[in-house]
Amino acid sequence: MGFVSFLTMTKRFTGIIAILLLLSLTIASASQEFCDARMDYSVVGCGGSDSTSQRILIKGGTVVNAHHQQVADVFIDNGIVTDVKPNIKVSDEVTIVDATGKFVMPGGIDPHTHLEFEFMGTETIDDFFSGQAAALAGGTTMHIDFVIPVNGSLSSGFKAYVEKAKKSCMDYGFHMAITKWDDTVAREMEIMVKEKGINSFKFFLAYKGALMINDELLLEGLKKCKSVGALAMVHAENGDAVFEGQKRMIELGITGPEGHALSRPPLLEAEATARAIRLAGFVNTPLYVVHVMSVEAMEEIAKARQSGQRVVGEPVASGLVLDDSGLWDPDFYTAAKFVMSPPIRAAGHGKALQAALSTGVLQLVGTDHCTFNSTQKAFGIDDFRKIPNGVNGIEERMHLVWDTMVASGKISVTDYVRITSTECARIFNIYPKKGAILPGSDADIIILNPNSSFQISSNSHHSRSDTNVYEGWIGKGKVEITIAGGRIVWENNELKVKRGSGKYIKMPPFSYVFDGIEKADASYISSLRAPVNRFKGMQ
Ligand code: URP
Ligand code: ZN
Ligand code: ZN
Repeated sequence: MGFVSFLTMTKRFTGIIAILLLLSLTIASASQEFCDARMDYSVVGCGGSDSTSQRILIKGGTVVNAHHQQVADVFIDNGIVTDVKPNIKVSDEVTIVDATGKFVMPGGIDPHTHLEFEFMGTETIDDFFSGQAAALAGGTTMHIDFVIPVNGSLSSGFKAYVEKAKKSCMDYGFHMAITKWDDTVAREMEIMVKEKGINSFKFFLAYKGALMINDELLLEGLKKCKSVGALAMVHAENGDAVFEGQKRMIELGITGPEGHALSRPPLLEAEATARAIRLAGFVNTPLYVVHVMSVEAMEEIAKARQSGQRVVGEPVASGLVLDDSGLWDPDFYTAAKFVMSPPIRAAGHGKALQAALSTGVLQLVGTDHCTFNSTQKAFGIDDFRKIPNGVNGIEERMHLVWDTMVASGKISVTDYVRITSTECARIFNIYPKKGAILPGSDADIIILNPNSSFQISSNSHHSRSDTNVYEGWIGKGKVEITIAGGRIVWENNELKVKRGSGKYIKMPPFSYVFDGIEKADASYISSLRAPVNRFKGMQ
């Protein structure tokens, strides 16, 4: 063999080795991505391949939609529900899931989350992978997260969140916060709605010096929302008064987590809720009030709805089932984990919010999942103003609402579907693709066993946080199976999630909450008393 051919062979050999090496690295990294979940969440059955069938028949369960429930089978093909009726016959290559005696319901949609959110000098501990994995383990199959503009720029904020969400393992949508106002922001709002699939913008009336905006900006924002068919959302607390309340507590020497609740009482939530409602009424555009935490704020919403105004009220899991006692815990870390805004209120508020939800005064349940671990919460060990605000809930919401509202007989199972899934899909204009089990709907489905129980602990939850505000909760009704995008992702207490498998769901403008707005505008104009036609000449 000559030297040249030896060299050629060696190169070829090296090339083959390199290709083999590259191939094994790719396989290793692919299975690593799949196995990441195992490391984070004790997931088993992780072989680097997706073992679940694309064709699934759910047999014999009670299929519940917001409008109707029936005992039926559900056939899923390639990620879509293709049939819902009794006794569906199928061929052999179909995974059969027996749901006898269980409820088959649309996967939960969480309208309010903050994953990988840069806030109060740190970033939430759950990213788009860990937060979503946790969601799936708890029966939530879609969430809507809040994009935060970068230096006021909506397009930069959107780009940043597109990057963050690349690791998604379930479907998601975006709301967007508005933190400053100029012509560029106004133009970008249009682009976000027309090109990027965003149909809601959030205005923070609190967090002075950070996210807070003033009434002038709110008015501009409400007008713009109305013109593009986007839903205006508000975090309703009077930020100036909260700032004053915080100073007052510090001057009184109250520096612990209880100072957080004392500095921002229900009065300030009610004031901002009422103000936002009145300004939205003045502009005649629908309004969505996020995380309604107090009776006082809820009553403002009730009053507005009674008068015919289009106001949506969203309580969150923590506000519905917890009270403020944790904030007075002598252990700082225990108390700090309950710090969120508006604060979790005294006993009684939660029950009133539950009643408002069951009677339709409030419409849907979110979580405001915004988790910080103990190390992050300790930023405020000497000053409650520095404790990052936020609690967990994305994994717990479906169980908590079932336990406190369905198992206790407060609402029907159809209402459960409405407040945890369908109403969110309707408000954000993605129904019946989401929020329903109908032919053509996405196969995002949970199977809940009402006779089984669940238990919450930071030792077994799937969030990256080392704490859980619902620690020790034991309740009735367990999500035994979660199907997302037509794949079984949660079964036998095991997660099989895959980075990058989640899809971005574009949400079109002008959802049903806008129906008839232009008629109300026309009747407002015609109701105006005719102006006086004054003679401008010399007397
Ligand atoms: O405390 C809370 N709620 N943190 C998340 C940010 C917000 O206000 O929604
Ligand atoms: Zn908020
Ligand atoms: Zn929030």
